[in-house]
Amino acid sequence: MNKISLRQIENAFLPAKEIINAENFAGRKAHVIDSYSALISEGANIAVVGNRGIGKSSLARQIMNISQGNNELLEKLEIDIDERLDFLTIYIACGNAVNDTQDLLVRLLTTRECLLEWIYEIPTAKKEIEKINAGFDLKLVKVGGEGVSETSQKSAISDHQIDVIFQNVITDLLKSKIAKDGILIVVDEFDQIHNPKGFARLIKSLATNTPGLKFCIIGVANDIQTLIKEHESTDRLFAGSVINLPSMTPEELTEIIKNAEKSVDNFITFTDEAIKKMISLANGHPYIIHLIGKQAYRSAYLEGIYELNEEYIEQTLKNIAEKEADPVLEGRYKKAVASSYQREAVLKSLADCVQTDGEVHTGDAYKIAIDRQVDNPSQYVGQMVTEDYGSEIIKVRERYYRFKDSLFMTYVKARPWLFENK
Ligand SMILES: Nc1ncnc2c1ncn2[C@@H]1O[C@H](COP(=O)(O)OP(=O)(O)OP(=O)(O)O)[C@@H](O)[C@H]1O
Ligand SMILES: [Mg+2]
Repeated sequence: MNKISLRQIENAFLPAKEIINAENFAGRKAHVIDSYSALISEGANIAVVGNRGIGKSSLARQIMNISQGNNELLEKLEIDIDERLDFLTIYIACGNAVNDTQDLLVRLLTTRECLLEWIYEIPTAKKEIEKINAGFDLKLVKVGGEGVSETSQKSAISDHQIDVIFQNVITDLLKSKIAKDGILIVVDEFDQIHNPKGFARLIKSLATNTPGLKFCIIGVANDIQTLIKEHESTDRLFAGSVINLPSMTPEELTEIIKNAEKSVDNFITFTDEAIKKMISLANGHPYIIHLIGKQAYRSAYLEGIYELNEEYIEQTLKNIAEKEADPVLEGRYKKAVASSYQREAVLKSLADCVQTDGEVHTGDAYKIAIDRQVDNPSQYVGQMVTEDYGSEIIKVRERYYRFKDSLFMTYVKARPWLFENK
């Protein structure tokens, strides 16, 4: 057997990266079919919603591949399609820098990786962009000038003008027939846009004025209304093309592990018990599989261990917590627990009692907490709903709570105890 490099080991699991290659993309056949259908369905926009870390961006990458004529995933999943799509596909991740709908449009128009590069090819579209730039220059003058309020942060051109410029540019691009199937704009982390008001209205008017433009918006939410924070007329714009990504099945999670083993020619493998353990810890979240897998592979490689069993996974969990392999989740855990055995016991008891609908009945959780020598569990629950402790727990109604985020809940369950029982 050839020696496997540390580089291969490090990249067998990818907790920090969405899956781009079809080869590494596990499961999700039904959702890929739905995505493809939405891509070929005229006038349909696409939305991908789901919990944190469930695989939304990875599915988005696959949608982008397919939209650009790469049918590898369809072939792998034996989805019988002979046509190759040809979209001009643009990707933007909102992060926390995008404030509102107009901000999003300006970014799409003026970023090279987005539309700007294409716009330069078309004189009429280029003229439109100059208007935006002129607006920004104007703003500088205004802010510099006398008697102008500092609050005029935005471009001097109005929101309405930006809408019009965007529409004109898209029309020009579509007319130039750069891509047979039109333009696909993928907006990831849509939930990060502070104020997406007006987005629904915008795509509604674009649907009439620029057929051939499709949006695919992605974000943490349970449904499209929550994602775009608007309740009217969204249904038809996304009719039949809202993809709600559920937890992954044990088979799908196993596939992730098997893919990783294959990528290192089975140089390091997991026993069946270890795989079972990882699946139960992951609770449907592919992210957790990647997080554990990466840490396990890294240490096993350095220690020269080639078969990883259940105990090895337990040990890996300790390493993940100690080394803060996920600093964000670990930070949230410490904030909620805030150096108290009692609070940690209550937090873990809540996580242990989450029902299939995501709710926790306090009666169940308190019983376990009291067994763990917590005197007054309700007091700690009261604290953990507050900002000071990260508001990880939300009160649903009398005696029922739920975790704000199932990925965090999964981490709480999997993480070894911080404090020893006194
Ligand atoms: N189908 C899949 N096969 C294999 N790994 C996957 C799959 N989907 C997601 N993953 C992995 O799970 C983790 C989370 O995926 P991804 O970033 O796509 O989720 P997300 O829902 O966009 O997360 P966030 O809410 O943080 O934006 C990543 O490590 C990714 O590589
Ligand atoms: Mg994502």
